[in-house]
Amino acid sequence: MVAALVALVGWGAFAAFETDIAAFREARFGMFIHWGLYTQLGGRWKGERMDYIGEWIQSRYQIPNAEYGLLAKEFNPTKFDADEWARQAKDAGMEYVVFTTKHHEGFSMYATKVSDYNIVDATPFKRDAFGELAAACRRHGLKVGIYYSQNLDWHEFDAADPRENIGRRRTALANKGMSWGNSWDWPDATNKDFDRYLKAKVYPQLKELLTNYGEIFVIWFDCPNGMTPQQSKDLKDYVRSLQPHVLVSGRIGNGFGDFDTPGDNQLLTGKSEFPLECPVTLNDTWGFKYDDHNWKSGYRVACDLMETLSGNANYILNIGPRPDGRFPDASSDVLRELAGWRRKTDVQIKGTKESPFAQAMPWGWCTVADGNVLQLVVKSDWTNELAVCGVRNEIA
Ligand code: GLC
Repeated sequence: MVAALVALVGWGAFAAFETDIAAFREARFGMFIHWGLYTQLGGRWKGERMDYIGEWIQSRYQIPNAEYGLLAKEFNPTKFDADEWARQAKDAGMEYVVFTTKHHEGFSMYATKVSDYNIVDATPFKRDAFGELAAACRRHGLKVGIYYSQNLDWHEFDAADPRENIGRRRTALANKGMSWGNSWDWPDATNKDFDRYLKAKVYPQLKELLTNYGEIFVIWFDCPNGMTPQQSKDLKDYVRSLQPHVLVSGRIGNGFGDFDTPGDNQLLTGKSEFPLECPVTLNDTWGFKYDDHNWKSGYRVACDLMETLSGNANYILNIGPRPDGRFPDASSDVLRELAGWRRKTDVQIKGTKESPFAQAMPWGWCTVADGNVLQLVVKSDWTNELAVCGVRNEIA
């Protein structure tokens, strides 16, 4: 009897997960928003233009917390309008928004009681940006996601500093003096206690985020370098104990994600059998940079989006808002282009399924909409014959 009960409970949990991951797949297209103190610098430091992603500026220039924290006193995005952000996302065809509630810099972009290093207590802005965005998203029919840097936190002594695990990619950056952890304020890592950091900041903040802001669709952990399998598992169990339906990104570490996350700007070349989400920048940075003008066109984004959807993966496109709280004009231009494309072609994004064909098509992409409608999205410069080979059933 007990075995049967356990099996039933197990089946119930599995069925609930299947429903949640089906909702994730149905959403298909998300907006990533990277907004923090780094935004104030916009990739510039003492006259130098940063040669890396903007949200890493404190590590790139080894800026002491005592100096970097002063940025909070200037953070006052008077043009921030959460409804405008949500409207642009929804019009572009997005179904969910993932917002950086705390990035590697350790500054909380929501009303937290755990640390006074936050947008309400430390800035002249004094508003809960995440709270306002979450409410606006729900007004516009968007699901709400959280980005939370659970391992790297340059404001906290006990946060991760996996020096020995610098990783090949970062070695190149290490040569520029960068590091995963804050080795500039605290060169001696001997007495660091990562579990103490988890207990003092991460768990209490996740409790706030998963208790005070309604239903959370996904929680996007990041950079798990050096975390143990037990730490990843315990963290996942904890967030699920607070919100049983929240889905966890692959970067919780050690294989405990509910969906896989490839590297940044790494798109599919085939089909994914696992739930997968491809994070993509619009230029070459996540956090705003004044001098990064390498913007993708709306056409390029639409092509990459269709490539990803036809491969059975989600596509999450990043916006790095400006210090004044507006989206960069070039970002809004792309979102407007996507909205125009959707209106003009009635292309379906939400709820579409992957291409039923094994082969890639030279003229564009297939997805399946409304259950059994084959949706062919053709590149605007295709002028040859449009052949769809391998259709075995009668076409209605
Ligand atoms: C990398 C970067 C991080 C960014 C993330 C987005 O992990 O380190 O700054 O938020 O990619 O996918």
